Amino acid sequence: MEKSRIKLEFLVHDLKVPLAVIEAGILSLLQKQDKYGELNDKQIKILERALRNTIVTRTLVNDALELGRSSQGIVNKATFTPAQLIVQTLIEVLDLTDHSTADAIKECKSLADLKTCLSGQGLFVEIEEAFWTRDLYLDESKVRQILRNLLTNAFKYKKNRVVLKIARGERHLFLSVSDDGEGIPSGYHKKIFECYFQMDMKTDHCVRGHGLGLAGVQVLLEDMGGELSLESDTGKGATFSVRIPW
Ligand SMILES: Nc1ncnc2c1ncn2[C@@H]1O[C@H](COP(=O)(O)OP(=O)(O)OP(=O)(O)O)[C@@H](O)[C@H]1O
Ligand SMILES: [Mg+2]
Repeated sequence: MEKSRIKLEFLVHDLKVPLAVIEAGILSLLQKQDKYGELNDKQIKILERALRNTIVTRTLVNDALELGRSSQGIVNKATFTPAQLIVQTLIEVLDLTDHSTADAIKECKSLADLKTCLSGQGLFVEIEEAFWTRDLYLDESKVRQILRNLLTNAFKYKKNRVVLKIARGERHLFLSVSDDGEGIPSGYHKKIFECYFQMDMKTDHCVRGHGLGLAGVQVLLEDMGGELSLESDTGKGATFSVRIPW
């Protein structure tokens, strides 16, 4: 293995201990209120959000290490519904930038509730009602990672709206994420999938981008035998569409 690759994997590997300490600390505060002091509702919400995101990070660190073990990448299929996929991904994406919507999403009892809650934030979910609770059998964490990256970009570049579509084909799951932002000129449609490439350095976002998200999305799709297409041009917004075989 190349030296720089070992160094990188070692770095990811060493994230495990501090992460475990953070997770255990948050859990202690939540579970041992008799010992460490009673928490009010707001404090519980904040700690639960922190815990959720620590668990997401732990899963990502483990996935990164697993990926290193096999050059092909491991596919772990499991059963989940579009409802679980979308609700979970939106909570992860919004936890940092709009946590009141992330909290509101958790209270939604139906697709109609969710649509109402999101449309106020300029996010529109399009899915057939009957498909919302159907079982899918795919690598959920990879599908979620793909969707999370596309949605994060769309939120970063949108002017007013983002549309998320999810549909079922004979042999594929279809996902698409559209925004009404500045769009991507056709000359850049290949380049944006290269590692570390960014057309601009958007700084008005709380997490600095590295130009790695779309490269990662491509690799995960390759692992699953999926495909991605991009429709966009200057001033016309962007639509990233993904096809994943069952
Ligand atoms: N929806 C979009 N609208 C306009 N430009 C986009 C969109 N999505 C991606 N891009 C362009 O493609 C580049 C690469 O995207 P990518 O997701 O790989 O990296 P990033 O978002 O800049 O950083 P990271 O994902 O690593 O946090 C972006 O920097 C941006 O220039
Ligand atoms: Mg990105």
